[in-house]
Amino acid sequence: MDDQAGKGLAGPRAVIIGRPIKHARSPLIHGYWLAENQIAGSYDRREVMPGAVAATLRDLRDEGYLGGNVTVPHKEEAFAACDHLTERARIAGAVNTFWFDGPDLCGDNTDGIGFVGHLSETWPDWDRNPAEIRLMGAGGAARGLIAPLLDRNVKTISVTNRSRDRAESLCSDLKTVFPDAKLSVLDWKDRGLGLGTVDLLVNTTSLGMAGQPSLDLDLTPMKATAIVADIVYIPLETPLLAEAGRMRLRRLDGLGMLLHQAVPGFERWFGVRPRVTAELRQEVFADLLGQG
Ligand code: ATR
Repeated sequence: MDDQAGKGLAGPRAVIIGRPIKHARSPLIHGYWLAENQIAGSYDRREVMPGAVAATLRDLRDEGYLGGNVTVPHKEEAFAACDHLTERARIAGAVNTFWFDGPDLCGDNTDGIGFVGHLSETWPDWDRNPAEIRLMGAGGAARGLIAPLLDRNVKTISVTNRSRDRAESLCSDLKTVFPDAKLSVLDWKDRGLGLGTVDLLVNTTSLGMAGQPSLDLDLTPMKATAIVADIVYIPLETPLLAEAGRMRLRRLDGLGMLLHQAVPGFERWFGVRPRVTAELRQEVFADLLGQG
């Protein structure tokens, strides 16, 4: 743990909390931007035990931190500890970015805008026409993604999840915030149905992650213009993306979301909107290869 907390240190400071925290990539990303923007601040990491999140966040405020990030397994605990939440954090039920407003703790969830930011940068035309989206999974990651997607030019989102009840509760929660959204639930066994009209397929499940089975899905019916996205980034080319590549479909990997979700936090704490560049992506990619 390289915790450099303590009042009196020069410069603005932010921090990431989680457990384990050793392999978190956010310190690399924010450290890169601090150096690039010549800001004499720091971005620290702190290992926190489950149950201790609310108390730690108060301590961080008292130690003079401006805010920080939350990673697994603390995103829900941080959510519960916040005095103020953004709407997208409320829908996600999880907080990955926090800051202090006087004594108050404020929380956001930037995973979804990170995903959409990466998508729009890579394939700017993706929602030129109303997009038909197939969301695979209805867990925490899907909850984080869905509200920022619904803010765009979207025709329909069909959600499919192994446990159907989770997909149903996600859709019914969303209906209260987006009453006009066209959402539907598909049985997991039917996850390949109707793929011929889908413009964007997003895997938010852990299937395809190193050590996990791959997502069993036949992409053959998909249109040539369709985009296949995976939020898994270890490995960067999941079996799903490899199959999409063989079919010459457009692809979006999970690393871009990791980089783009960090942008709003950095801007809030350090006052500069940072850039996601090919060089930063290469640095983080090399780090992933080194540490697995
Ligand atoms: P996260 O916060 O990363 O989304 P999660 O909330 O545990 O983590 O959700 C993991 C997702 O992967 C869920 O959609 C889960 O399906 P269930 O809700 O049915 O558990 C999905 N998932 C994990 N293992 C799976 C498997 N072997 N087959 C199908 N879906 C799986």
